[in-house]
Amino acid sequence: MKTLISSDVRLLANLIQEGKVVIFPTETVYGIGASTKNEAACLRVYEIKGRPKDNPLIAHFPSIEAIEESCVLGNLGRKLLEKFSPGPLTLILPKKDKSLFPKELDTLAVRIPKNPVIREWIRLTGGPVSAPSANLSGRPSLTKLTDVVRYFEGKVDGILIEEEPSFGIESTVVSLVGEHPTLLRPGSIESEELKTLLPDLVVPNLFETLPVLSVSHVPLSPGTKYKHYAPSAQVILASRDEFIHSLEVGFDPKDTAWIGFSIADKLGKGNLFSETKEAVAKSKEGLSKFDHFSLVSTNEEYASKLYAFFEACDLSKIQTIICETPKLGRGWEGLRNRLEKASRRN
Ligand code: TXA
Ligand code: MG
Repeated sequence: MKTLISSDVRLLANLIQEGKVVIFPTETVYGIGASTKNEAACLRVYEIKGRPKDNPLIAHFPSIEAIEESCVLGNLGRKLLEKFSPGPLTLILPKKDKSLFPKELDTLAVRIPKNPVIREWIRLTGGPVSAPSANLSGRPSLTKLTDVVRYFEGKVDGILIEEEPSFGIESTVVSLVGEHPTLLRPGSIESEELKTLLPDLVVPNLFETLPVLSVSHVPLSPGTKYKHYAPSAQVILASRDEFIHSLEVGFDPKDTAWIGFSIADKLGKGNLFSETKEAVAKSKEGLSKFDHFSLVSTNEEYASKLYAFFEACDLSKIQTIICETPKLGRGWEGLRNRLEKASRRN
């Protein structure tokens, strides 16, 4: 199959209208999309990804008004979207238009991407566009065009070239159906921020890996029960001390990769080395033997680089990826959740 790779939003909107599948970037990760009004096209997305059929898709809308035509938004939903959208927030709402994919569900996951060009593209398709993250099921989501092309050229009808994802982890998912609003997937918009509008928000224990199981053991969000975000290499989540120790003992830099803060701290504050110029130069020299080392200074930077780093490690046949735990505070919640999932063995 020939894949049209282009920044022409009209051409790529036409493809969606014709029932084709198009990959597009959002501020979180790349999505692989089809018209929400076209069941056969949506089912092709499942086939291409190898995605389990019981895991529904997020419908991407151009505006709050468009969401309201398809779903019961309510006061709370409107306030949330007014505060956090366009942006990395997905709401689960009762569905008004029963013809939308997936037809068998009474609810729809909705979100408005941040980039105005992407919203214009969705508008041109006649919208909405249903899209899971563009990756093979179980693997990390993709955040780089080169990775998208490598995996999907020849498998999808189009790839829209626009600004690449910057947040790097998938949207925060909040369910507004059911008795209490519930956080189904943590992301860049954090539970503390959500609680300003949703004081009774139910937040699962974020130290434990989701799945979020309801009383009947049916997952609230089907996607939470599957293995996720995992590269082929084994991911190890390490405390700051373990991380530093692993640089010195036990791991061969030829087939091990590291992503974390600690060296930045060392160089910046000199708290482990003395602060003399010679000592700093020496520790930098020490780092040069690590071919696969990604240094980050904030949780946000960590999240934005993580998935592309996983991809690069797999390409280089790295066996083990050691990830320093994120810093407590801003950006911790979603990143910690993805790292825990990536480090799960099954
Ligand atoms: O940032 C993102 O959300 C990206 C970009 C492309 O928008 N998309 C994404 O989609 O991460 P996906 O399919 O990988 O994750 C969607 C999550 C899944 O966990 C799925 O189970 C849940 O949303 N979901 C979708 N529809 C649902 C529904 N009606 N009820 C409960 N959960 C739902
Ligand atoms: Mg996904």
